[in-house]
Amino acid sequence: MEVLQVKGVDKVYGTKDNSVQALKNVSFSVNQGEFIAIVGTSGSGKSTLLNLVGGLDVPTRGEIIIRKHNIASLKRKELTIFRRRNIGFVFQNYSLMPVLNVYDNVALPVTFDKGKHIDHAYIEDLLKELGLWEKRKSFPNELSGGQQQRVAMARALANKPAMILADEPTGNLDSRTTVEVMGLLKSSCKKYSQTILMVTHNEALAQSCDRILHIEDGMLLPEKVMKDGE
Ligand SMILES: Nc1ncnc2c1ncn2[C@@H]1O[C@H](COP(=O)(O)OP(=O)(O)O)[C@@H](O)[C@H]1O
Ligand SMILES: [Mg+2]
Repeated sequence: MEVLQVKGVDKVYGTKDNSVQALKNVSFSVNQGEFIAIVGTSGSGKSTLLNLVGGLDVPTRGEIIIRKHNIASLKRKELTIFRRRNIGFVFQNYSLMPVLNVYDNVALPVTFDKGKHIDHAYIEDLLKELGLWEKRKSFPNELSGGQQQRVAMARALANKPAMILADEPTGNLDSRTTVEVMGLLKSSCKKYSQTILMVTHNEALAQSCDRILHIEDGMLLPEKVMKDGE
């Protein structure tokens, strides 16, 4: 089943003399449960694409359709609720709440959503798998960068969102933690049939995903069809 369709998307920042065309005629679609790597050089448009898919910004042209909803057609408030229900974000600036401890930061998206109850057992599992259970009462400023990144990851997963958008989620992690975080993403993706779009610079990580989208200069390169065992 297709969960995401990106159709002829352009993104232009700024106006006239100062404009930058960050995306040019980008089209692709994604099936539920696919784990997709997005690769490309710095400035090629990867973060722009994730922001548009997550409804954090709007395309200049084209459409983004998530589970049959054209996200441009949602009103501000509808979009906020849609995002909260369907999408988990993991960005590099972790945007953790400084006044909340680790546990409460992770539970926050669920707390916001009045339609859902907090699955404490699931949050405990996530924190344990990410090696954060002992730190559950610590505050973000008491954690290392890698620990904060893992908290952000747990928070993105806490809602069991249908789609996870991750912008270099392992960028600040050592190789052992990277392997653990990837393992968690993969098992979550399988268990809950989640769709993951992950920007990464790590070639080995990209190769371990179901599909790789290459962006160069705002354009999507033709996809190489991957064969088994490749
Ligand atoms: N908010 C913005 N305003 C103006 N230009 C931007 C903005 N965000 C990104 N850009 C430009 O758009 C292009 C793509 O950026 P980005 O999507 O961040 O690339 P990547 O994530 O692949 O490094 C770059 O040329 C960048 O400078
Ligand atoms: Mg980026």
